[in-house]
Amino acid sequence: MAKLKAEKGIEPGLAVIIVGEDPASKIYVRNKKLACEAIGIRSEEYALPENTTQEELIALVEELNNKKEIHGILCQLPLPKHLDEEAVINAISPKKDVDAFHPVNVGKIMIGNFDFLPCTPAGVMELIKESGIDVKGKECVVVGRSNIVGKPMAMLLLHQHGTVTVCHSKTRDLKEVCQRADILVAAVGVPELIKGDMVKEGAVVIDVGMNRLPDKLVGDVEFDSVAERACAITPVPGGVGPMTIAMLMKNTVKAATL
Ligand code: GUN
Repeated sequence: MAKLKAEKGIEPGLAVIIVGEDPASKIYVRNKKLACEAIGIRSEEYALPENTTQEELIALVEELNNKKEIHGILCQLPLPKHLDEEAVINAISPKKDVDAFHPVNVGKIMIGNFDFLPCTPAGVMELIKESGIDVKGKECVVVGRSNIVGKPMAMLLLHQHGTVTVCHSKTRDLKEVCQRADILVAAVGVPELIKGDMVKEGAVVIDVGMNRLPDKLVGDVEFDSVAERACAITPVPGGVGPMTIAMLMKNTVKAATL
C-alpha cells in the first residue's frame, strides 16, 4: 500500500454503508473497517438510521460515486425491508462496485472477463487454490443459489473446469446429490444442514454458512461428523469469513488502480 502511495500517489478508499441496527451486519462492517486500518486502506463508514428513505440512500450512493477519494462502495446487505436492494446495487458505479453485485459486473463474471469477483466466492476459490486442490474435472456441488454466493460460486467453479451442480430448497434427494461431490460448498443459511452421511469419503467441504443460534455460531455443515469423512474442511467461524474480507481488500485496491 505504501508503494502504491509513493509511486502512484494513490491511497485506496472504501466507503461502507450500513442502514439500521442489524447486529450481524454491524459486526461484519466493523471487521471490514478493521481490515482496512490494518493494511492502510482509507475507510469511511456511513451508518444511517433504520428510517432512512430510498431517496436518501440513493443520494448518498451518488455522492460517493462522484467522490474522488473513494474507490470502492459497499452497501451492507440485507437492507431494512422498506428499501429496494436491487435499486441501490444498480445505483453503485460498476467501477466502484467492490462487492461485484451490479448487473454489469455479474454479466462480466458470466462471460469470464471481469474486473471484480464477489468477495465470498472469490475467497472460497482462493482457499481451494492455496490448498493445492485442482477443480478441473471434479464433481462440484453448491448448496444454495443466492445471487451473493451460490450462483457466482457455481460460475467460478465452472471457470476452473469443475462439473457443477447447484442444489436448492426444491432439489429432490439432496443427500444423494451431495454424496457425489468431490468439492461441496454449503451456502444456504440452514444451521448444520450437511451431515456426515451426506458427504463422500475424502471430499473437500467448504462451509459458507453463518448461523447465529442462541448459544453459538454455526455453519451450514455439522462440523464434527463431516470432518470425520472430509479430506479438507473449513471451520465456522474462522474459515471463509476472513477470506471474504481479504477479497474485499483486494477488490478495493484493484478499484483504486483501474
Ligand atoms: N451481506 C452478507 N454478505 C455480504 C457481502 O458480501 N456484501 C454485502 N454488501 N453485504 C453482505
